[in-house]
Amino acid sequence: MSSQFFALGLGIGTQNTEGEWLEVFYSNPIINPEKAVIDAILESTSYTEGNDTIVLDESDLNRLHMSLLKAGNIEQAELASRLKASTQPVILCLLSNDVAPSNPAEVYLKLQLISHRVIKPHSTNLTGMFGLLINTAWTSDGPIDVRELADRQLSARMEGRTIEIFSVDKFPKMANFVVPSGVRIGNAARIRLGAHLGEGTTVMHEGFCNFNAGTLGNSMIEGRISAGVVIGEGSDLGAGCSTMGTLSGGGEIIIGVGEKCLVGANAGIGIGLGDRCTVEAGLYITAGQKVLVRDENRNEVATVKARELSGKSDLLFIRNSETGAVECRTNKSAVSLNEELHANN
Ligand SMILES: CC(C)(COP(=O)(O)OP(=O)(O)OC[C@H]1O[C@@H](n2cnc3c(N)ncnc32)[C@H](O)[C@@H]1OP(=O)(O)O)[C@@H](O)C(=O)NCCC(=O)NCCS
Repeated sequence: MSSQFFALGLGIGTQNTEGEWLEVFYSNPIINPEKAVIDAILESTSYTEGNDTIVLDESDLNRLHMSLLKAGNIEQAELASRLKASTQPVILCLLSNDVAPSNPAEVYLKLQLISHRVIKPHSTNLTGMFGLLINTAWTSDGPIDVRELADRQLSARMEGRTIEIFSVDKFPKMANFVVPSGVRIGNAARIRLGAHLGEGTTVMHEGFCNFNAGTLGNSMIEGRISAGVVIGEGSDLGAGCSTMGTLSGGGEIIIGVGEKCLVGANAGIGIGLGDRCTVEAGLYITAGQKVLVRDENRNEVATVKARELSGKSDLLFIRNSETGAVECRTNKSAVSLNEELHANN
């Protein structure tokens, strides 16, 4: 058996009435658990090999607690001990390899590894995850399989209660699972589980962050971070701006934004940006657009498709208000613009 394992999570799960898993909450997921931890799991649980999800009862947790203590992993040992008191099913999810997930417990483990900042977006295999998850109502009574919702609502009303529905989706907002350190979030509903918010990130009310996407550090996010998009340290997304996703229609390029960039209010990008780039407010750059490139003295250099400028640094994109042409200039004011915006972070 390989001594290098990918990830491990001890969590609390929720099932529907058929016993299918709707979600799993992992308070402290880890990657690359040391060999002693794997040996502790081997000696105290029914785990044998590969990627496995095991439901643990109180005596399993007791044995696991003792074995983890012996292995010297105090944090996970204390978690195992604490979970003995859980009235909800306790799950151990152990991934020997980072292959495509095969059940909801694995999907939730991977999404939480990202949101806990244990791994970065794009660094785990999430292929086929949506097909494994059950559409769920996220409610004041907890997660409810949407097919069972009407029945639960009737029961609640008969007790004089209303079940509040926060969302109906395959997975819910990040903040119900983890709030990473050093972030401010105007509206928690707009950050999906699986988002990666770097230390120093502020997401204002209009900002949005999808799964397997996010920021790496200090950022002011007032626009949309689509699935897969990663925003570098010190970059800002202006109010209502958009980063183009790849999930439906259009480009195949996964958009990335480098460091110290500013995507202006109501602007949008369908190409990646390098470092210190600015996109004028209101300008949407799509990959096939023809862009007039000017040098530092604003002399015309060439006309290229925007995708050829993808990922390049020190660029300023504007729509020339006199000619209507999209232009790319050398960006001279990137740093000062960003410094101002970060002053209140
Ligand atoms: C594109 C942008 C960065 C330019 O700002 P700037 O660097 O301060 O540039 P200035 O407005 O000083 O303009 C510099 C020159 O370019 C010209 N210029 C600027 N925008 C132009 C345009 N769209 N078309 C033609 N010329 C333009 C100016 O007239 C000026 O010309 P000059 O040197 O001959 O006087 C700015 O207009 C912008 O869109 N910022 C985004 C801010 C934002 O949305 N923040 C997020 C808030 S939530």
